[in-house]
Amino acid sequence: MTDRARTFYLTTPIYYVNDRPHLGHAYTTILADTMARYRRLAGDDVWFLTGTDEHGDKIAQAAAKAGITPQQLADRNSAAFRDAWRQLGIEYSDYIRTTEARHTKVVQAILQKLWDAGEIYLGKYGGHYCFGCERFYTEKEIVDGKCPDHQTPLTWIEEENYFFKMSKYQAWLIETVERQPDLIRPERYRNEILGFLREPLQDLSISRPKSRLTWGIPLPFDDTYVTYVWFDALINYVSALGGPGAPRFERYWPHAQHVIAKDIVKPHAIYWPCMLKAAGIDLYRHLNVHGYWTLGGRKISKSVGNLVEALALKDKYGNDAFRYFVLREMVFGLDADFSEEALVSRLNADLANDLGNLVARATTLIVNLGGGRMPAEPTEATRADVKTLGAVPDLKHEFEDVVMPWVQNAMDEFKCHRALELIWIFIGHVNRYVDVTQPWALAKDPAKRSVLDAVLHALGESLNVLGILLSPFLPEAAARIRATFSQASPPRLADAVWGRLTPGTAVAKLTGLFPRVEDKTPRVAAAARAEVARVPIDDFSKVDLRVAEVLTAEPVPKSKKLLKLTVSLGSEQRTLVAGIAEHYAPADLVGKKVVVVANLEPAQLMGIESNGMVLAGSTEGKLAVLTLDRDLPPGTKIT
Ligand code: MSP
Repeated sequence: MTDRARTFYLTTPIYYVNDRPHLGHAYTTILADTMARYRRLAGDDVWFLTGTDEHGDKIAQAAAKAGITPQQLADRNSAAFRDAWRQLGIEYSDYIRTTEARHTKVVQAILQKLWDAGEIYLGKYGGHYCFGCERFYTEKEIVDGKCPDHQTPLTWIEEENYFFKMSKYQAWLIETVERQPDLIRPERYRNEILGFLREPLQDLSISRPKSRLTWGIPLPFDDTYVTYVWFDALINYVSALGGPGAPRFERYWPHAQHVIAKDIVKPHAIYWPCMLKAAGIDLYRHLNVHGYWTLGGRKISKSVGNLVEALALKDKYGNDAFRYFVLREMVFGLDADFSEEALVSRLNADLANDLGNLVARATTLIVNLGGGRMPAEPTEATRADVKTLGAVPDLKHEFEDVVMPWVQNAMDEFKCHRALELIWIFIGHVNRYVDVTQPWALAKDPAKRSVLDAVLHALGESLNVLGILLSPFLPEAAARIRATFSQASPPRLADAVWGRLTPGTAVAKLTGLFPRVEDKTPRVAAAARAEVARVPIDDFSKVDLRVAEVLTAEPVPKSKKLLKLTVSLGSEQRTLVAGIAEHYAPADLVGKKVVVVANLEPAQLMGIESNGMVLAGSTEGKLAVLTLDRDLPPGTKIT
């Protein structure tokens, strides 16, 4: 935990108003909302901005198709986003629309400044344009003559345009990204940008002739042109604060962090820093990039036609359950595949079983055995007596000295999935505490009253701190937990420590916090999960997991399923046989870092001795080999 009050300015992308809010938009906004709530909980000075991007071809085309003006379309759909965020309980500080005068004013001021400084010139441009993406594609990026994102044909467009001298900032940008390792995170996106910057950076066309497009902000120095949508849109992060010089800008801009998905890394990691530099504005602090939500392996989007309605999911399963699922399921930076089954499985396992049951058991015990009051803090002697009951976890120490600092670290790096994972380990330990101490047995012996009270006290303290720490992730459930402990005032992270519940505080029973969902559809993953017995950590540590680099891969003759791999474990090479031939071409594996069980007994497969096993997961005909989120040398032990 930290007691330094910090300032935090967080933005989501501003969403195009030609689309309805779907799971992808909802995820980014929920992630940002969770981060903002967490930082408010920590006592920080937080400003959280979201909004809509309302200019450009896409909007003009969608409006024409609907037979309304672009402004009407923008008004309607911007309101739809706003309404979705209201229903999802998003607590933003400000909502910017690029058609607002406060935005236009700042965009034009910045353009004029760059024009006056000679940063913009008139030039000719020809290129392959995608109307869906509203951008030109270079020859290298084009796949089979089509847009790599939309898979639609590109149009060749040639016109006179204004250009921003972006190329002159290339060396500065490389140096900046290299000097600040956490500027763009996770690291994979930083590497992607550094890779991109190895090629010469082109100047950026920042205008569109009005003859082709009228729906945009006119250039202040030539009103026969409108501003290119990205140049217009990126400035929202600054215009919403009132622009340079405005008090809100001065207060928050030095702490700016953006959250985006990997689709828009380039404008945010290349155009935007150069634009800021040229305009004499400091660079943002962090660009936080998450992966895609996919459905059956394809990115969820309107144009791909597999939109998942965020609100329908929230209505069906509840806001907290939906929030928890998306925050827990997506590893920050990587893609995650959406399925309703996975959502239900997490809801049942993590929320109904682990958390819901714990809250129900603990509050019922306090009410039935402790008279519905928080017991007094136990003495050292009683605490020692509790320890004689068995392998009792030290909940105070675990929470305060392990969970809290680790959650803090995870949240500093935008890793909500990791924070939740840690909190759930703690929840598991509190459940174990009940199993080991068996308060109902202690209650039968009047001589054990003080030990029973000490146990109930530990449960009360644990639930109280969970009611605080869970509030950014599960706002409704956390408030109910706090209410059950008579805590009505807004939670503060500083109170997530033992000793903040006054002895005698009334405690009520709280059952059914997350009712189980009885889903009729077969659930492979959930079934498998339910059948696997828990194992002590010592059993797990018998398995020697190692990072292995694939050196060669070849099909095993006469086998459809098997591949023969040679892998490096650092100090030695091994031959392994893996049943993954139907899912991976040998060439795709060479050079990959995978995870292997290194101490398996050798096995003969199709006449080849396999010395180890490659870890992979599979469901419904899909298989994925485990790889690393960050590079580690071959042979590294995985624990
Ligand atoms: N208007 C631009 C952004 C301008 S920001 C100055 C834009 N809009 S968008 O409506 O297409 O939103 C893109 C963003 O929506 C992604 O960066 C991400 O935050 C979110 N997502 C949309 N689909 C998504 C997935 N399938 N998965 C994860 N997030 C996705 O680009």
